[in-house]
Amino acid sequence: MTTPISHPFYLDCDTGIDDALALAYLLASPQADVRGIGTVSGNVSAAVGARNTLDLLQLAGHAHIPVALGAHDPQAGTFHGGAPHVHGANGIGDVSLEAADAELVPGTAAEMLVRLAHEHPGQLRILAVGPLTNIAQALRLDPELPRLVQDITIMGGAAFAPGNITPVAEANIANDPEAAADVLAADWDVTLVPLDVTMSNVLEESHRQELLAAGHPVPQALGDMLGYYFRFYESQFGRACSAMHDPLAAALAVGGVSAAVAPVVRVDVDTTDGPGRGQTICDLRGRYMDYPEQPGARCRVVLELEGDFAPHLVEVLQSLSGPEGTTAAWSVGAAVA
Ligand code: BDR
Ligand code: CA
Repeated sequence: MTTPISHPFYLDCDTGIDDALALAYLLASPQADVRGIGTVSGNVSAAVGARNTLDLLQLAGHAHIPVALGAHDPQAGTFHGGAPHVHGANGIGDVSLEAADAELVPGTAAEMLVRLAHEHPGQLRILAVGPLTNIAQALRLDPELPRLVQDITIMGGAAFAPGNITPVAEANIANDPEAAADVLAADWDVTLVPLDVTMSNVLEESHRQELLAAGHPVPQALGDMLGYYFRFYESQFGRACSAMHDPLAAALAVGGVSAAVAPVVRVDVDTTDGPGRGQTICDLRGRYMDYPEQPGARCRVVLELEGDFAPHLVEVLQSLSGPEGTTAAWSVGAAVA
């Protein structure tokens, strides 16, 4: 059996239940070597997201991975307060994790990203599963960033699918459209994982039960968190299950799953103040007609997946192993300040 090649990864997140799943997926993947994590306000504030990230890393036995605090406010305006109805008051389904001993590293998330890109020229891979404020900031800090990183995978946007914040806008893009416009206009190898594919690959209660039964505290804690997430999605799917936004982007980034339909097109972000604000305008006219490639067509938009994602996700999370003594406790219902 050949050992998969491991790539250095920078994760940018707003941890978040599905962000927690994406982080766990990366930690369990031999193809990913997570070198740094930055947090941004979205599901929760950047500070609460950082706390959740540190606590999850400790639970997983990876407390050595540096976490940097990112932007609290979007490029224009101020942080709106998060999505407690989706992710719980503490962002992780009101599951209380043991507080991590590790502290945040000095410097901002954007500075961390730029430093990592210089330390791994041509190799660093970015997975962004929150609003794109930190990534846009990093582009301003170092306009050479697109040349330095290998690629960037973004969970965000909606191509043919409706939005989940407005009729046309998805949360990560809606939370900072100006940043998203800058990031999608940059000249790098970018993959967008929009609602079209994340809403059509769901995790069912049977999968959650498999996580709860796993012999490792991380999948067990994730199973607990998913109880909260499932209650939110019940109103949309009519049964206990959930969409799989961020872990699906993680799996596509590391190559654990493959896209079946993923045209490379031009994507613009609506930054006006009208009803289209935050929409990802994907030029998919080639679906209906012989359409010549557009200038600026550089974004791979994942529309359909090969195979069934949920069993793959469960299998990868069940394979998590940490150093001896990874037994930190957690409890449901105790709010974390
Ligand atoms: C995205 O928004 C956040 O709530 C989720 O964590 C995910 O990244 C889905 O629209
Ligand atoms: Ca997220």
